[in-house]
Amino acid sequence: MTSPVSDSDTTEQDRRERQLVDAVIASFADTPNERLRTVLTAMVEHLHALIREVRLTGQEWEQAIAFLTHAGHITDDKRQEFILLSDVLGASMQTIIVNDDPTGRSTEATVVGPFFVENSTRVQLGADISGGASGEPCWVEGVVSDIDGRPLGGARIEVWEADDDGYYDVQYRDERSAARGHLYTDDDGRYRFWALTPTRYPIPSDGPVGGLLAATNRSPMRAPHLHFMVSHEAMRTVTTHVFVAGEDLGSDSVFGIRDSLIVDFSRSSGEEPTPDGRVIQGTSWTRARFDIVLAPQPVPRSTRSPA
Ligand code: BEZ
Ligand code: FE
Repeated sequence: MTSPVSDSDTTEQDRRERQLVDAVIASFADTPNERLRTVLTAMVEHLHALIREVRLTGQEWEQAIAFLTHAGHITDDKRQEFILLSDVLGASMQTIIVNDDPTGRSTEATVVGPFFVENSTRVQLGADISGGASGEPCWVEGVVSDIDGRPLGGARIEVWEADDDGYYDVQYRDERSAARGHLYTDDDGRYRFWALTPTRYPIPSDGPVGGLLAATNRSPMRAPHLHFMVSHEAMRTVTTHVFVAGEDLGSDSVFGIRDSLIVDFSRSSGEEPTPDGRVIQGTSWTRARFDIVLAPQPVPRSTRSPA
């Protein structure tokens, strides 16, 4: 019995599919911006390769469009479902890794997340950023330096985190600012502040991205972390987290963990003295040290000396 689809049919089908890919790529030939043409060409190659590889059905195409439409409808100035999608697919993290500091000697970056707020309250060294948010007190300290170990005085450190119910202040019903702030390193590059021991919390999962996680038996939980954004003139700003020891890449819904960012949060009882003599009664507290290394800013192409 002969097969209903012959080899020549398959070859002809393959030719038609490839012809379409080539036609779409050719349509970008006059794009004046070379970078845009490069990115669009690669995107079309990969998108068509995916459709052809999985033999995407019309129904699946409609589902994908419905998914993206839902993501668009749920997105507003407070909720960004497309970034969340990029996060859970590892695309945000891959973009960060691709753009890692080429010296490899500075603190590694990770996802920024949706809860960073400009113009946070300034706090003094040693102050408490919790602002009344609930959680176990946590003393955080470290040094900010350059890749040659020189301390960077006056570095700006932005920190923000969720409370122990898993909420950031921007998710509260009122306008309160809590569990966030910024401070500056002293002349020796040192910083210290009180925060809250980070706990696990879920990324927003009531939208289409949450549906994708549920359909794939994935957890929406993020590994416990405290966000940092550290900047200094002439240095490359790093947006990163410090993670509580005991986690691995697979335990974070947005793949943000990097081994170099995991530190011990050692726990003390309320009776033990704190580094700054603060009296903490009736609760334990933790302590973490996180040193931060900033890379030099890349020299703009136009000012590089000839090789
Ligand atoms: C966060 O850590 O705040 C976060 C990061 C990515 C997606 C959602 C939340
Ligand atoms: Fe976070």
